[in-house]
Amino acid sequence: MKEYFKVDEWKIIEESFDPQYNKVTESVFSLGNGRMGQRANFEEAYSGETLQGNYVAGVYYPDKTRVGWWKNGYPEYFAKVLNAANWIGIDMKLGDEQLDLAECEVLSFRRELNMKEGYLQRNFKAKTKLGKELEVEAIRFCSMADDEAGAIKYTITPLNFEEEISITPFIDGDIVNKDSNYDEKFWDEVGKAVEGDNGYVHLRTKKTGFEVVTAMMFAVVQDGKNIDAQSTPIQKEKYIAAEIKLQAKKGQSITLIKYAVNVSSQNYAAAELVTRSAGVLKTISAKGFDTMLAEQAAAWAEKWKHNDIMIEGDAAAQQGIRFNIFQLNQTYTGEDDRLNIGPKGFTGEKYGGSTYWDTEAYCVPFYLATAEQKVARNLLLYRYKQLGKAIDNAKLLGFKDGAALYPMVTMDGTECHNEWEITFEEIHRNGAIAFAIFNYIRYTGDEAYLTDYGLEVLIAISRFWVQRITWSADKQQYVMLGVTGPNEYENNVNNNWYTSTIAVWCLKYTIEAIGKVKEASQPKYNDLVAKTGFREEQECEKFADIIRNMYFAHDDKLGIFLQQDGYLDKEQILVKDLPASEQPLVKKWSWDRILRSVYIKQADVLQGLYFFEDNYDLDTIRRNYDFYEPRTVHESSLSPCVHAILAARLGDIDRAYQFYLRTSRLDIDDYNSDTDDGCHITSMAGTWMSVVEGFGGMRVKDGKLSFNPLLPHQWQAFSFRVGFRGASLNIKISKEGVLIKNLSDAEIVIKIYGSDIAIKSNSEKLTPVQASTLE
Ligand code: BGC
Repeated sequence: MKEYFKVDEWKIIEESFDPQYNKVTESVFSLGNGRMGQRANFEEAYSGETLQGNYVAGVYYPDKTRVGWWKNGYPEYFAKVLNAANWIGIDMKLGDEQLDLAECEVLSFRRELNMKEGYLQRNFKAKTKLGKELEVEAIRFCSMADDEAGAIKYTITPLNFEEEISITPFIDGDIVNKDSNYDEKFWDEVGKAVEGDNGYVHLRTKKTGFEVVTAMMFAVVQDGKNIDAQSTPIQKEKYIAAEIKLQAKKGQSITLIKYAVNVSSQNYAAAELVTRSAGVLKTISAKGFDTMLAEQAAAWAEKWKHNDIMIEGDAAAQQGIRFNIFQLNQTYTGEDDRLNIGPKGFTGEKYGGSTYWDTEAYCVPFYLATAEQKVARNLLLYRYKQLGKAIDNAKLLGFKDGAALYPMVTMDGTECHNEWEITFEEIHRNGAIAFAIFNYIRYTGDEAYLTDYGLEVLIAISRFWVQRITWSADKQQYVMLGVTGPNEYENNVNNNWYTSTIAVWCLKYTIEAIGKVKEASQPKYNDLVAKTGFREEQECEKFADIIRNMYFAHDDKLGIFLQQDGYLDKEQILVKDLPASEQPLVKKWSWDRILRSVYIKQADVLQGLYFFEDNYDLDTIRRNYDFYEPRTVHESSLSPCVHAILAARLGDIDRAYQFYLRTSRLDIDDYNSDTDDGCHITSMAGTWMSVVEGFGGMRVKDGKLSFNPLLPHQWQAFSFRVGFRGASLNIKISKEGVLIKNLSDAEIVIKIYGSDIAIKSNSEKLTPVQASTLE
């Protein structure tokens, strides 16, 4: 763990330049607005270690799978969100010398990410090899108000020289993904133009045929005045630029304002893109940089109003949670149900920007409580619309009769993972998708969703489980063979408790949902039966038979559920007895050794106890937690948050706090030494859950919000805001008690420590904090 950034409640601050750490900083300081995003690369040239990254949401490329020995069922391709045209570029030349910080003596350097107002600022003073000293200040953002646009204000001041400076804003579309399987470039050029103060590059993706126009417009300010700078156009393959030459005077600043736009054929006809981009450029340049920046601050103020978490007395924890909330809001805004949340968002290429079970298991709860209902609903609809492809995906693997297996990794519903051994058998994702339907309805009360969309998905998923489960003549029970649970450090195991548990839960929920839908609208149910060919009596009888006769691995002596058959045969050496020098295992051990070991990558049995906690008493949860946590290496970012919530539930506030810190500062402190290739965006929603569901103890019980708060000793107070069925609440936990403010116009009844309390509209109630919340 590194403590590289300065602790500040609203900012991430880097106070000096460490080229070794640059790729981590580029990830942490990434910007986005749900529609596009980018890593915090420098505007001017940089020849040191860097990972250039610009992304346009939903624009992907199906890169042909790379595999030594092809097996039936292997996905044809691994989809990748594309590294797109670089629109931030501004080349700077002082006389003949190119400005490149890798070649300079850096005299001072400061970069800060202003999370409150949503922009990135960088200031430095540097001395070039030829002894020229200069100062630069650069501010930029991806606009929330105009989500196809971004803007940069770049100011250079010569400190000890007078010379001709050449400033060259450019757009470079000649980009290659670092993770390209065959080192191919994924973009073709359609057109480009540059003239005067503006230009564009028009690109098309190979195979998928997405078209994107990236356009720029610029203005130059010298001596505080806009000047009519003459520029020389430059064109190369997939590249345009405009070179401006100005006589610079010592101490006199020159500012370039660069406006940029990305428009894509996802939203407009390809033939319109150039005109559209010009239209957006016209609108934003007419507003001007300062107005755009003010609108950016206002848009972020509105976001923070609904989802800020305040922590008093612990600035590191405060910075951590705000960073997570900031990144989540930058990644997904919920406006478009074709988009989803890649594990790295817009901060890197890893995981291809695709959708994983992370969305349903981790992100849905965050958006349910902090955004309008349509945001979580759009995440669910994304899967609903892909049901046909999930059925096709199951067919490819030999399933039939409308059984659906949702992909573990996808862009458009087609399975496109890159790691057959692990992801192929992680069929538990089907369970998380069903659970998200349940969770959404439990939270919002939107029962109509079940009738209109949910049940159709549940039937298809249940049909899959029925075919995937095997009758064991030996056990006289149903078993689930050859799966990979959430713990990816085991592959192809039998009777993974989590997978079997969520499968049986799905069958039960489907039966319950059928009853509800029939009651709500028999005609709609009949339509669904006709559409899916569902044979209710026969299929439900099969579901019930599996529910009655499923085998679950367990150990009676220890009183625990077994992660899978044979887990206790492993050598039981705990993580605390594993030398630190051998961790992380994924980097230090062979895969074979990992698979044979007892070590667990992330919550597995415990993930099930988290989802279905109401089905287990506290002693059962504790026995399993006490057994599995000491064997868990938390090498997935998704792990610490589930443990934080369970530890808080068990009243172990100190452990909960340790897990919270680890999840919330995972990227800021580069805990797992892997932030250089991007931030762990989906686990950031888990961090939010650690505070709200962990310390706040928030649940939905009998259609009401329920809280069992605990206050970590390190904090004087913490507060969070949630929306629930039209109401808006602010919950503050301090030594004085739990203060709940009802910010809405209607009375709301909630549960605190198990008792119902009514809070009138626009009023508040204080309840003492209970030392123990165990029951
Ligand atoms: C985790 C998976 C997760 C994926 C993407 C892996 O390391 O083990 O559970 O879905 O990352 O975040």
